[in-house]
Amino acid sequence: MSGRFMDKVALIVGGAEGMGGATSERLAAEGARVWVIDRAGDAAEARAASIREAGGHARAVAADATDEAAMAAAVAAAVAAEGRIDVLVAIAGGSRAGRVADLPASEWDRLYRLNVTATATACRLVLPAMRAAGGGAIVTMSSISGLRGDPGWGAYNAAKAAVISLTQTLAWEEGRHGIRVNAVCPGPIASARMLASLDDPGFAARYDAACAIGRMGRPEEVAAAIAFLASDEAGFVSGAHLVVDGGLTARTGQPV
Ligand SMILES: NC(=O)c1ccc[n+]([C@@H]2O[C@H](COP(=O)([O-])OP(=O)(O)OC[C@H]3O[C@@H](n4cnc5c(N)ncnc54)[C@H](O)[C@@H]3O)[C@@H](O)[C@H]2O)c1
Repeated sequence: MSGRFMDKVALIVGGAEGMGGATSERLAAEGARVWVIDRAGDAAEARAASIREAGGHARAVAADATDEAAMAAAVAAAVAAEGRIDVLVAIAGGSRAGRVADLPASEWDRLYRLNVTATATACRLVLPAMRAAGGGAIVTMSSISGLRGDPGWGAYNAAKAAVISLTQTLAWEEGRHGIRVNAVCPGPIASARMLASLDDPGFAARYDAACAIGRMGRPEEVAAAIAFLASDEAGFVSGAHLVVDGGLTARTGQPV
């Protein structure tokens, strides 16, 4: 094992499957000591085991990102075992379709809590360890849905926009502590969950066609962007949101 994360400690919240799983694998392949934190405990264990089988370092913790006590325990366990945290990637999140006219307040609260409050909480919990070590890197998970209006996804769009604002604010609040904070904004990524959510098979083809390069993205392609932002190579990148969408938002008009 060698690479940009040699012996660095990386916590991946939502690190079992999809883009989170790919990020866990990528950082571990580049030498990180990865903590796979996920509400799907079995999937997290399986991801950590597959990393170890490939010669990497990984441990799994079952915790829901919206459960502050469980997240605090997970972070405390990592600090106790490793003595430091160098990287946090906060990927856990989720969406639900619904027009603003139809979505009840309870769904706004749920999606905000899952995408925004849980991300802010994970960041808050790792800051003491990062400050004590003199720095660190945080990558949050926004979406191209957070960059513009997307009819039918009101609460999700607003929550992912808030993740960008949170990222910008944290970058300034923690920059003098040596902590960089950046977001990724993926376009359509063919994770297993995303593909399963497409009730109309025609949607996959429409997503493919909406991207300038003619296909949806792969989780590994977002993991590569996250790895860059989390690495020392991005030493002067903070408060940014990196669009990883195959060119989807580079055009005007009706994309999907
Ligand atoms: N797939 C896409 O097209 C796409 C595009 C832009 C942004 N996103 C965002 O990317 C993130 C990951 O999406 P995905 O499609 O790769 O995979 P996904 O839905 O499979 O989620 C990745 C991992 O997060 C875990 N997770 C979900 N909710 C959690 C919670 N409350 N606590 C702990 N773990 C939790 C899942 O168990 C899974 O292992 C989400 O925040 C999503 O909103 C997805």
